[in-house]
Amino acid sequence: MTVSDALPDIIHHLPPDHHGRNLRADVRAGLTGSPKTLPPKWFYDKNGSDLFEQITKLPEYYPTRAEREVLTNHAESIAAAGPAETLIELGSGSSRKTPLLLNALKKAGPLRRYVAVDVSDGALLEARDELSSAFPDLDLQAVAADFETQLHLVPHKGPTLVAFLGGTIGNMEPEARARFLQNVRDLLLPTGGSLLLGTGLITPPHVLIPAYDDAAGVTADFNRNVLRVLNTELGADFDVEAFEHAAVWNPEQEWIEMRLRATRPMLVHLPGINLDVWFQEGEELRTEISAKFRTSGIIAELEAAQLKTIGQWADEQNQYALTLAEVD
Ligand code: AVJ
Repeated sequence: MTVSDALPDIIHHLPPDHHGRNLRADVRAGLTGSPKTLPPKWFYDKNGSDLFEQITKLPEYYPTRAEREVLTNHAESIAAAGPAETLIELGSGSSRKTPLLLNALKKAGPLRRYVAVDVSDGALLEARDELSSAFPDLDLQAVAADFETQLHLVPHKGPTLVAFLGGTIGNMEPEARARFLQNVRDLLLPTGGSLLLGTGLITPPHVLIPAYDDAAGVTADFNRNVLRVLNTELGADFDVEAFEHAAVWNPEQEWIEMRLRATRPMLVHLPGINLDVWFQEGEELRTEISAKFRTSGIIAELEAAQLKTIGQWADEQNQYALTLAEVD
């Protein structure tokens, strides 16, 4: 028997064609609204995921390095404050930072299982194969589910640590964040446990803006990739290069927005959803919000969901925080 024969399959909670139905609904709603928007989750086809991976290595994009610094320096304190039998990682993607947590949790107590939750089968399989050789004693589970709507389906036993890293919570608007945190609390309530939440902190504009508008243009390419996804999946005819990348700080909402600006008037056809969309010259399509936080604001949002902060750690330059909160 080979190693991979011994591994369980991915548990599927996504209905058939979840991806396609969701995409079509999101694109119709976003492109018929004013201003036009698209949800950031549609960046991440194979090319988009590769581009994001490149972004994490750019000199300007500091969040990934800052998060790794916090985990490297504080994983042991985090694990000591939030020991668990089950680690659930939401939006686990390539699970690259997971070994830091797993090692610390093994030292701190009775860690038995790791449950990776992601919408991408490919990422789940890859992560599982890598982790299974590094952690042979661990019960590994991979769950294909949407953490915004299907958290209640994630299997777990005993005291549980839910990790939501990368700062991805910043892609949600405040109401969606509140709902999500409430769902995490409902998930943790029966077993007890805590949430480890990764968030970008507010940094000065000369640091923040280049992180979302790098000199090499990788972020611009990543941004435009969402149009390529629509061309491929919906048969659309976006002239991708006719859209210009912009990164704008919104000081009221305290989030950075990525936009795509039409450099000429355009009529775009989207046969997959039977829709034609008109862009005026200079019109902007919002493709992502990435909220940045104050440490006190994070604690307050957790508190509103009855999650009580028991620890908070940041990198040396205060660019990124990990907050640990338990069910009250
Ligand atoms: C993966 C969602 C955390 O918001 O910083 C990187 C995605 N967007 N550059 C972020 C992203 C532009 C990233 N997250």
